[in-house]
Amino acid sequence: MTETVREEAPTAGKPSGGLLEIRDLMVVFDGFKAINGVDLTVGEGELRFLIGPNGAGKTTLIDVITGLTKPTSGTVTFAGASLVGRKEHQIVRMGVGRTFQTSVVFEELSVLENIDLAATFRNPLVKLLRRRRGVSDEVAAALATIGLEDLADKPAGILSHGQRQWLEIGMLIAQGPKLLLLDEPVAGMSKDERERTGELLTEIARDHTVIVIEHDMEFLRRYASTVTVLHEGSVLVEGDVAAVQADPKVQEVYLGRKKEDAA
Ligand SMILES: Nc1ncnc2c1ncn2[C@@H]1O[C@H](COP(=O)(O)OP(=O)(O)OP(=O)(O)O)[C@@H](O)[C@H]1O
Ligand SMILES: [Mg+2]
Repeated sequence: MTETVREEAPTAGKPSGGLLEIRDLMVVFDGFKAINGVDLTVGEGELRFLIGPNGAGKTTLIDVITGLTKPTSGTVTFAGASLVGRKEHQIVRMGVGRTFQTSVVFEELSVLENIDLAATFRNPLVKLLRRRRGVSDEVAAALATIGLEDLADKPAGILSHGQRQWLEIGMLIAQGPKLLLLDEPVAGMSKDERERTGELLTEIARDHTVIVIEHDMEFLRRYASTVTVLHEGSVLVEGDVAAVQADPKVQEVYLGRKKEDAA
């Protein structure tokens, strides 16, 4: 059957399709442009990879989306609402969750308690109800998704590096976000752990929108579809993995620089 072509022009006042829309973003630290005119659109349900050399501005971009850093100028719109000027906890409650490059779990608390605490942060009412009823559905579901049920009652301090990353992802999911921002989740992981993380991300992306910062090309080849490359605060290239990898500009920023440095 042929489909009738409908008028596709974006109508004024309506979001033009992206769950997250960033326009003309600038972040200047003491005269240094960490983000220099970024436009980025991420659609609902996408698993988007964000790559780029050290200092490209990847973490800063996530800091701006989550309200940790205030942009110098530009707009950040999530589900039609502006995020600029909102506090971090407000943005979490709107449905945006993130992990940090360094771990933030409470080592003395159990795996389950860490997830529980994270869930409570998004929805304080749950805390009151929980006093009587034990583990909530969203906490149990998050624990199952990350595959740490056997370690639920163990202190988070005993987890391996990989398990700790999964716990952080579980803590995020328990907050019921629409958009998850993961900053280098597979850094320092073993090959096996990377593989499990790739599968976990794929699973999570079935009912969430996910942006993942990652450097590892092998990992990208396996699990990424659309990739955005940042370089010196700007979007260098965006497209599917194969096209991005074949792009001479990308090869230059990843490989060319090394050669120059060595010279
Ligand atoms: N609070 C800050 N004050 C001053 N400069 C900053 C600040 N935060 C980041 N920068 C600088 O902005 C640039 C971008 O940093 P950012 O952490 O976003 O890079 P990145 O792409 O995440 O790098 P990496 O791959 O090393 O994590 C870097 O040059 C960094 O030194
Ligand atoms: Mg970073």
